[in-house]
Amino acid sequence: MIEVIRVDAKAHLKPSRYRHTLGVCKLAVSLAKWYKIDLIEAETAALLHDYAKYANDDDILQIYIKHDRPISNVIKNHPNLGHGFLSAVIAKEKYQVSDQVYEAIMNHTFGRPGMSILEKIIYLADSLEEGRSYPGIDEVRSYLYKDLSIALLKTCENTLLYELKRGNMIHEQTILMRNELLEAK
Ligand SMILES: [Fe+2]
Ligand SMILES: [Fe+2]
Repeated sequence: MIEVIRVDAKAHLKPSRYRHTLGVCKLAVSLAKWYKIDLIEAETAALLHDYAKYANDDDILQIYIKHDRPISNVIKNHPNLGHGFLSAVIAKEKYQVSDQVYEAIMNHTFGRPGMSILEKIIYLADSLEEGRSYPGIDEVRSYLYKDLSIALLKTCENTLLYELKRGNMIHEQTILMRNELLEAK
């Protein structure tokens, strides 16, 4: 099955998005090995996490409505940011992925409190894969194999700072995730 998913992802994604996806796979599989979780699950989630990146806004909003999920103001104003949810639904329908993979794909953009190790790994791999570069990224990467929670907190804070500087809305799940990480410290 993983072979079929690899071929599908390559055919479906634009070259730059596929390159990013391969970067996410590489880091996610390496972290999965380190933290001793299922490698195939990690690769499957990584390969499919951005599958619906090119979906139109309406299709993304419709999937929220169909599944009776709350639509945050962030999604209302920028439906494409909800591509993780549609990607997860497609992954489930097309490849019957496990609930863990479904959640990891769904939550890769905003995170959420109470994430599983697989969810954390996909969230982190998405923003720290080798093709990404931003000030301070190497410092965050240095925590990946030492303390996943610190890497997560720093990644989440970098994302928040980036969005705040641009005057963008913040998804409530990201705030709740940060609060949880601070509380656990
Ligand atoms: Fe994404
Ligand atoms: Fe991504």
